[in-house]
Amino acid sequence: MNPLRSAILAAARSDRLRTAITAARPTRAVVDRFVAGETAADALRVARALVATGCVVSLDHLGEDVTDASEAGRAVDAYREVITAIADAGLADRVEVSVKLSALGQALGAAGSQGAAGAQGAAGSHGVGGEQAAAGEQIAREHAAAICAAAAEAGTTVTVDAEDHTTTDATLRVVAALRETWPWVGAVLQAQLRRTEDDCRALAGAGSRVRLCKGAYAEPESVAYDTAGDVRASFARCAGILLDGAGHPMFATHDPALIRPLTQLPGVSTRAEFQMLYGVRPDEQRRLVGEGHTVRVYVPYGTQWYGYLMRRLAERPANVGFFVRALAGR
Ligand code: FDA
Repeated sequence: MNPLRSAILAAARSDRLRTAITAARPTRAVVDRFVAGETAADALRVARALVATGCVVSLDHLGEDVTDASEAGRAVDAYREVITAIADAGLADRVEVSVKLSALGQALGAAGSQGAAGAQGAAGSHGVGGEQAAAGEQIAREHAAAICAAAAEAGTTVTVDAEDHTTTDATLRVVAALRETWPWVGAVLQAQLRRTEDDCRALAGAGSRVRLCKGAYAEPESVAYDTAGDVRASFARCAGILLDGAGHPMFATHDPALIRPLTQLPGVSTRAEFQMLYGVRPDEQRRLVGEGHTVRVYVPYGTQWYGYLMRRLAERPANVGFFVRALAGR
């Protein structure tokens, strides 16, 4: 992996840098390019504008690696609030939500309180062991179920984001459990992981909503492809598996080398969708809509933008200079 990219991704998990950079408050321009704003009202305003251009939307309440139970509970409240706002705006058929299980308590310990397992999880990967990991998984599953219940009542859907590879098994277990009640729950698979072709086969059944992305986390070579070419080739193979299945593939990439051939395939415009991030390639989003494709824009909002923004910088290290200048107030 490009050394600058892996340095930025390591910084994305650093609590010390998170505190320092958040306190430095980079100019709004840096955050605003990728983040809709701080409140549910901000998110709805951006969602409404995107829907007016023909896109559909997934709203993400920013937050991850939560280490105390009350914060995880507040994340559930935030999702309930935005789901109500989606319904009140009459947008439930166009706007869904995306959730990260680490924001809902996946790394919390047995008592669900701030402490050993949570702190360990936040310090590095959140691969906590044994009973504590099982307790965190249960807490996250219950919180995600509360969000799914609210989404069902509102008539919208939920997609469960993928995080680093130490969480993949637990996350897919939670998705499977949620799907027993809400079969529309979306899963996310990361093409950079060597396991993902098998996961695509397992999740390509009828009605299964699967977002395929490359993967935004620094991963060891033992579990992940290392070069951009290998990740792209894996994405293409995984996309083929999903399209051979009976589910609803959601191709989340800005990469023209992947998007172009996918748009040529028969049936893609009717049974698949493309997904892109808010602020990235908006012209391409509109072009694809114009060609008759469904394009879902992933729109993050909230105050916890640090980890998300650092992963976007890692994808385009060329933006680092812009970010540093903004931090310095120039
Ligand atoms: P990549 O960064 O590999 O760039 C490939 C090419 O795309 C570039 O050479 C350029 O041509 C074009 N391009 C990319 N960015 C551009 C820009 N800003 N302007 C112009 N051209 C650009 N990850 C994860 O681990 N878990 C998750 O749950 C999700 N969820 C998710 C949802 C959605 C909707 C998206 C789009 C992405 C994610 N991701 C994610 C992130 C994903 O894994 C990946 O890190 C990024 O999408 C970057 O990979 P790309 O294929 O988009 O472009």
